[in-house]
Amino acid sequence: MKDDILRRGRLGLQSEEVTLFTSSLESDRWIFDSDLMVDEAHVVMLARQQIIGEEDAAKILTGLDRIREDGIELLDSSYEDVHIAIEARLIELIGEEAGGRMHAGRSRNDEVASCIRIALRKDLIELGRLINRLRLAFIERAREGVSLIIPGFTHLQRAQPTTLAHHFLSYACSLERSFERLTDAYKRVNLCPLGAAAFAATGFPLDRAYACELLGFDDLLENSMDAVSTRDFAIETISVCANLMTDISRFAEETILWSTDEFNLIELADEYTSTSSIMPQKKNPDVSELLRARTGTVHGHLVSVLSICKALPNSYNRDLQEVTPHLKDALMITKNAVNITAGMLETLEVHADVMLDKSLSGFSMATELADMLVRTAGLPFRTAHQIVGSAVRMGGIDFERIEEACERVTGRRPEQLGIERDHVDRALDPVTSIDQRSVVGGPAPEECLRSIRERERRVKADEERLKSINERLMHAEKRLDDAIKELRG
Ligand code: ARG
Repeated sequence: MKDDILRRGRLGLQSEEVTLFTSSLESDRWIFDSDLMVDEAHVVMLARQQIIGEEDAAKILTGLDRIREDGIELLDSSYEDVHIAIEARLIELIGEEAGGRMHAGRSRNDEVASCIRIALRKDLIELGRLINRLRLAFIERAREGVSLIIPGFTHLQRAQPTTLAHHFLSYACSLERSFERLTDAYKRVNLCPLGAAAFAATGFPLDRAYACELLGFDDLLENSMDAVSTRDFAIETISVCANLMTDISRFAEETILWSTDEFNLIELADEYTSTSSIMPQKKNPDVSELLRARTGTVHGHLVSVLSICKALPNSYNRDLQEVTPHLKDALMITKNAVNITAGMLETLEVHADVMLDKSLSGFSMATELADMLVRTAGLPFRTAHQIVGSAVRMGGIDFERIEEACERVTGRRPEQLGIERDHVDRALDPVTSIDQRSVVGGPAPEECLRSIRERERRVKADEERLKSINERLMHAEKRLDDAIKELRG
């Protein structure tokens, strides 16, 4: 029978069935590397505080190296989590006299919270990079579409013409905010719970600030009860993912609609589509559909974690273990989705002629016509709205119908209001209409070009932000390495 280092004092062994039910080892793969790092920093700090001897510390560090080399596969999978499995393996490798000292002044509660935060910050940086790639893809495609007129929709009905650049820039802008949310969440992820122990801290003279620094955390989570109990950072992170996925799903939905025969505005690259096993003509937007569906999965992760946490009394409860897989999976899905979306966007083909054609038909110019009546005849907008609306009802927005509607609504003929046929014709031209929409954030080509430059500038600045965050982490890793070397002498 195995000598279970955790249960041997207090409890008998568990059946395999119960161990399987309680174990987190599978999802702990995600935190294996971070766990070893947390072990190292804790041991270095313990030695510096003379809580354990330097010789024992050195032995432990050598044992941890070996465990890292061997990988998670060599751990005893009958333990309930990676933390205790690593400690058991350490004791097996170097004996309990030294190995049994690693866990002084610590609990798995502060340990696991530290590990998750460390694994998470890496994923966040990676996600940040991917968001930036997608932002650049939208910006690039916007640049190609500065003068490309497309029908704009409200209620999925053709509404007013705009440009492809304007449309794609809307996504570049929302992704910019996702990036902002991500770096904001990062600030609260990168805080250090270590030293909180089970929840009531410890009587050992730990140097929390030192361990915090070695692990590259920006600050301590001060209150030891809060430090082990909270998963607010997980909720916040998944919410970043859920929000981002919502935007991705909206874009995915548009690619599905726009690539139908009915819309025919774009064609997706073969690579991002599938065909039917029975209908040979089919080119189905499966990738987009899966993006849309996985958004639902990520939303589910958010709700799951909120629900898991909502009724937990202070401090640690095993329920918290159940949060980790949701967090990990939400991030994995989101990283994947952002990456795939960028590829799909970069390769999709635009049907410029159909876009223009559909912008001209379907009364898209009605608003422009009403605006013209206001500008030229000095009519109140509500009156102009009624005139154009009546013309639409008669079946068209040509000069004859406008003339008739104008007389009916105002009792005066257009000429009496200073409106000539030419005014109407010009108002029906989408190019002129778009050129006029040059207010900040509007679709006029000049304005879109300005916006493209601004978006690009921000992506660059955000890349720099990621770089400096990453450098800080690398710097801390080096400090930890140096401290380990120094300890070994
Ligand atoms: N596997 C556990 C988790 O993910 C680690 C902490 C266990 N703590 C405890 N008191 N049982 O939360």
